[in-house]
Amino acid sequence: MQIHHIHSRVTETEADAIAVGVFEDGPLGEAAAAVDGALGGAIRNLQERKEFTGRCYEMAPLLVSVGRARQVLLVGLGKRDKFDAGSAFRTASAAARHLAGKPRAAVALFLDEGWPAEWTENGVCGAITGCEGQDLYRAEKSRHPFGTLAWSSGDNETIVKGEAIAKGRILGDAMNLTRRLVNEPADEIYPETLAERAAEMAGRNGIEVDIWDQPRLEAERCGALLAVAKGSSRPPRIVVLRYHGAAKGAPTLAIVGKGVTFDSGGLSLKTPEGMFTMKCDKAGASTMVGAMQAIAQLKLPINVLGIAGLVENMTGPAAMKLGDVLRARNGKTIEVHNTDAEGRLVLADLLSLVVEWKVAKIVDLATLTGACVVALGTEVAGVMTNNQPWCDAVTAAARRQGEPIWQLPMYPEIYDELIKSEVADMKNVGDGRWGGAITAAKLLEQFVGNTPWAHIDIAGPAFRDKPKPWSDAGASGQFVRTLVQLARDWQP
Ligand code: BES
Ligand code: MN
Ligand code: ZN
Repeated sequence: MQIHHIHSRVTETEADAIAVGVFEDGPLGEAAAAVDGALGGAIRNLQERKEFTGRCYEMAPLLVSVGRARQVLLVGLGKRDKFDAGSAFRTASAAARHLAGKPRAAVALFLDEGWPAEWTENGVCGAITGCEGQDLYRAEKSRHPFGTLAWSSGDNETIVKGEAIAKGRILGDAMNLTRRLVNEPADEIYPETLAERAAEMAGRNGIEVDIWDQPRLEAERCGALLAVAKGSSRPPRIVVLRYHGAAKGAPTLAIVGKGVTFDSGGLSLKTPEGMFTMKCDKAGASTMVGAMQAIAQLKLPINVLGIAGLVENMTGPAAMKLGDVLRARNGKTIEVHNTDAEGRLVLADLLSLVVEWKVAKIVDLATLTGACVVALGTEVAGVMTNNQPWCDAVTAAARRQGEPIWQLPMYPEIYDELIKSEVADMKNVGDGRWGGAITAAKLLEQFVGNTPWAHIDIAGPAFRDKPKPWSDAGASGQFVRTLVQLARDWQP
């Protein structure tokens, strides 16, 4: 899909279909007013009759001609003072998603009337993600990327906006890469193939890549990750990506991703309902891969180490068993009480490694616990930390990108004892199911030492069972933008 910036008035557009933003309150914007004028007051008339109010994500397709366009989509932008970077992403995505329901040669979006450049990035990014759905294997696609997408922004800062559009495209492509990796099923994407996909991405973008196979993982004593892999016929991998945007030896940001390519639960088997969407359990790793691509394409002046632990959690004859005691990379022992609490085992070895490699700060992403979804619902990620300023930086990055996140507490005097084991240094589940998102984070905390660390539990937002106005069901790509923002804000 070609994307370019236009200055022309909405009534002079060359596009076949256009989308025009309308706020719920206040006067019509420039484009909406021009369309209203060309249509003899039609928009204000619709608003007066409450047929179209401008509520956020409300859509009104008008089969009328304006300029060359034969279709005008009115897009609700909601209340003016509530509009932010997240709204820019979601409204543009909703508009594109609607128009992408049919093949179209040329589409123009008139949503941005002097938005800050960051919102334009988000809007373009949203438009790109809105054109792609989860129908990877359908003969009859439900979304069709446009031949060309024209982005209008009512002002004449051509250079600034041109760059914002190029950056938005990078973000959108990165989110779609992440979404595709998550949406592809477990027989297509398993540890070896996900490692290959990551290596291909790295090759295209000048990122250094190192893949550890099973013998290497054994030699490196990644006992916790290897234990999870034992039940599967698919051998595990660790992928290490190194992007050098700053001086050699400059402080490094580590992005750590859970890459369980399928989570059956292992011998603590999931129910069919619980298992059905578990191809999504590689979302942490896929988010890391997408973010690394964007960080490299944006040429950010930072050193980033991306690492993913890739395993399949299955029930094969050699599967790890309840009561097994594992020895993680850093020497700590873990007693297995539930083989379905496998993500924390994978992350334990990854976190040990990046701490050994003396990275400056760590952020990990994992579809780690159903408990986090119970606590915060499906759209909000949980964040837990050993270092409040670093957590604040992560939260600020997420807020700036409009990706909802909420911190959960880590009180040592309350939660530490819940993962104590009678036979090993710790057990892999909490005492009872209460506070499950936090007891999982408590295990991770055992592997990060004093390195500032923030853990983002994306079990809810990574994958949608149902569509939203701005997104098809399936993988969301959420938190790719937050990671990129974090790299942009980097102050070691
Ligand atoms: N991958 C799951 C968590 C998950 C649940 C992700 C729902 C996305 C949607 C994780 O490995 C898991 O199974 N966690 C268990 C932990 C329990 C056994 C302590 C859970 O949440 O039930
Ligand atoms: Mn599990
Ligand atoms: Zn899992």
